[in-house]
Amino acid sequence: MSSRFIVGNWKMYNTVSQAETLVRAILADYHPHPTVEVAIAPPFIALQTIATLLASNTIHLAAQTVYQEDEGAFTGEISPLMLKAVGCRYVIIGHSERRHVLGETDQDINMKIRAALRHQLHPILCLGERLEEREAGHTTRVVQSQLQQGLAGIPAKEFPQITLAYEPVWAIGTGKAATVDQAAEVHGEIRRYLQEQYGIEPHTQRILYGGSVSPDNAEALFHSSEINGALIGKACLNAESFGRIIALAKAYTP
Ligand code: 13P
Repeated sequence: MSSRFIVGNWKMYNTVSQAETLVRAILADYHPHPTVEVAIAPPFIALQTIATLLASNTIHLAAQTVYQEDEGAFTGEISPLMLKAVGCRYVIIGHSERRHVLGETDQDINMKIRAALRHQLHPILCLGERLEEREAGHTTRVVQSQLQQGLAGIPAKEFPQITLAYEPVWAIGTGKAATVDQAAEVHGEIRRYLQEQYGIEPHTQRILYGGSVSPDNAEALFHSSEINGALIGKACLNAESFGRIIALAKAYTP
């Protein structure tokens, strides 16, 4: 795979007017590149405004989560139909904050992925172990279990629609990114697992790294052919640092 994918997950930051300011600043310095794809995932309330701003650009719109039903009495939730209609191409599913703060289970995540695929929304499935799981030597087991349950019942022919994101929980928001070796090792294990279980050719599955990615460590991460891009939190809330990471992805795409 010879392209990189950079996704900015804004989490619960920015009012609509702040979102507009940030997107304008990102666009002011954005130059599309044939091998670097970019997406931003603002809060739901800003999707419409940002969709209008991005209309003539090649930055894609993503949502931060989705509910598994098309419509109904599900107060507070948002459906894949609604996300598709507003112009989302991607949806982040199973982020560690959804799993560990908001109680999403692997079964919930599986239903969300199926719902997204039903509506031609491309899921970005997040996987990652907690610190105590890594220290106990359970990283592989945890990530494989998330993968197996998250993808249960989904035919391998759908996998090209899915981006995976390895985000170790201990690296998110801590300023302590995984080392390139740590990330590459888990990415390699994910690829081996997908090959054994589903016959997926190792380098056809797009796998991003997330967790304290910054302009300071992005270059090293992008040197690894195991790492197909980045899912960025804090550093995407500033147009300059997000732009610097995108520039590094352009410079170091094989
Ligand atoms: P940080 O880049 O702030 O560590 O967040 C990573 C993340 O959770 C992206 O989804």
